[in-house]
Amino acid sequence: MKLYKLNIFIVILSSQLIASQPIIYGDKGVVVAHSQAACDAGIEILKDGGNAVDAAVAVSYALAVTHPQAGNLGGGGFMLIQMADGRKAALDYREMAPGQAHRDMFLDDSGYVAEGKSIRGGLAVGVPGTVAGMQLALDKYGSMSRKKVLKPAIHLAQKGFEVPYDLAYSFGWLNQAAIDFDETRRIFCCNGELYMPGDLFKQKDLAKTLKLIQKKGNKGFYEGAVAEALLKSSTAHGGTISLEDMANYKALERVPVAGIYRGFDILSMPPPSSGGIALISMLNMMEAMSFDSLGWHSAQHIHRLTEVEKRAYADRSVWLGDPDFFEVPQNTLVSKAYAQLRMLDYDSLNATPSDSIYPLNDRDLQNIGVGGYESEETTHFSVVDQWGNAVSVTTTLNWSFGSYVTVEGYGFLLNNEMDDFSSKPGVPNSFGLIGNAANAIEPGKRMLSSMTPSIMSKDGKVVLVLGSPGGPTIITSVLQVIHNLVDYGMSLQEAVNAPRLHHQWQPDVIQYGPRSITEETAAELMQMGYQLQARSAFGEVNAISRDQIFGGWVGAPDYRIASHGSAY
Ligand code: GLY
Repeated sequence: MKLYKLNIFIVILSSQLIASQPIIYGDKGVVVAHSQAACDAGIEILKDGGNAVDAAVAVSYALAVTHPQAGNLGGGGFMLIQMADGRKAALDYREMAPGQAHRDMFLDDSGYVAEGKSIRGGLAVGVPGTVAGMQLALDKYGSMSRKKVLKPAIHLAQKGFEVPYDLAYSFGWLNQAAIDFDETRRIFCCNGELYMPGDLFKQKDLAKTLKLIQKKGNKGFYEGAVAEALLKSSTAHGGTISLEDMANYKALERVPVAGIYRGFDILSMPPPSSGGIALISMLNMMEAMSFDSLGWHSAQHIHRLTEVEKRAYADRSVWLGDPDFFEVPQNTLVSKAYAQLRMLDYDSLNATPSDSIYPLNDRDLQNIGVGGYESEETTHFSVVDQWGNAVSVTTTLNWSFGSYVTVEGYGFLLNNEMDDFSSKPGVPNSFGLIGNAANAIEPGKRMLSSMTPSIMSKDGKVVLVLGSPGGPTIITSVLQVIHNLVDYGMSLQEAVNAPRLHHQWQPDVIQYGPRSITEETAAELMQMGYQLQARSAFGEVNAISRDQIFGGWVGAPDYRIASHGSAY
């Protein structure tokens, strides 16, 4: 029967579909992530009878071993879950400001943001959330023991794995950059000897930490020897995290933010991420527009996308922060009525200058430069299982290798997530993103994020699971993949591979990745009043979709970085 269907489908669809046939296809389950070993860890759990949540926990811990730039024990993240029985959850294990943190902690005596303080060293570190998040996921939505799901990660740390090219490269620059961080260079840079691609990389200290977590759960990380060592290493580098901060950390379950785009249900991450609200708000603004007659990445197409992005990012700067500390007008921001209102000043022929979209009354706005550091920090993976459960996870240390502080004797890096707070209202952070009171530093508060783990469904069934790293470009990367699929009918891999553009309201410039824009289109856009800035490729959208022909799952790793997938 299956073969019969296959023959018909070959005759009907001919070579076009063959040209875009999926590379990763599984009847039962698929995992797409930055590291092949981590994908394999997830599939091992699925094959052993685990569900997508069990597999996601295994992948997350495996990434802490194989992708230390972003996979972590010392960071945080978000897990979006849609179970086949209809349950939906947004797990928030974002880092938290320590008890001694305060609004002006990164300002110098003259009231300016002190360079580097929120980025490297102990003060940059938020109380880590990942271990608590994994425990919450397993307790509420998983089906396997901690013993089982941590096994692949412990094996990878103990026995080692072959260093992939991109990791060897990253270790090389870490060796130069982390010159004042001896433990980091000892663990990851072989004390300056450096790992070459293909070398075996064993992490004895990390294996010890993972075993403690395996045995004791949260108590093995937030209390006892690991917590004490974390405190010591953070303090030695100027940090203020206390044992009380560690003991008080809690992962939270929140209600996912939901919207509808052209008949598809969109589920995404609510605050403290800005991602879900901004994504749904942009999709709402786009829904009122037609893209039917517009060539993909023609000037009119880019104009529409850009105007939508500018408005959503302007709102982000003012209205988004930790909902436990600031009243986020979520219902308004994700409503269709608000999207309509927001686009009232849209000019179909000309760019609307960002300053007139939201005029910030702060003199610091004048100091905003073009750019903002961007690197491959953060990582996203997607998992689906044979029952139709779907999990979308974005996790991070913030910048690549976080604060550069490694917990001595325990082999894991600490985040530099404190930089995601707004150190001073109106002054951009390292990503060029502006924040205000909503995202000011307060003890116990979670810093605003752009991470956008998302799931799209039709008639209650999951059809797409996706997310991306990339700081502020996360949200626009996710948006463009959904848009490419829904409005331009691309296959999943085409939608993921397609070149991308990004506008974040301030600076008022379209950032364009390689091959995203022709010279003629650039000239037309400049005529309309846009400034353009070429930049390197961004985003790493690791996505899975439901296959329309055979009913299984298709995985699409983002090949512009170095992603992978496994299926069964
Ligand atoms: N640290 C990147 C983000 O949370 O958006």
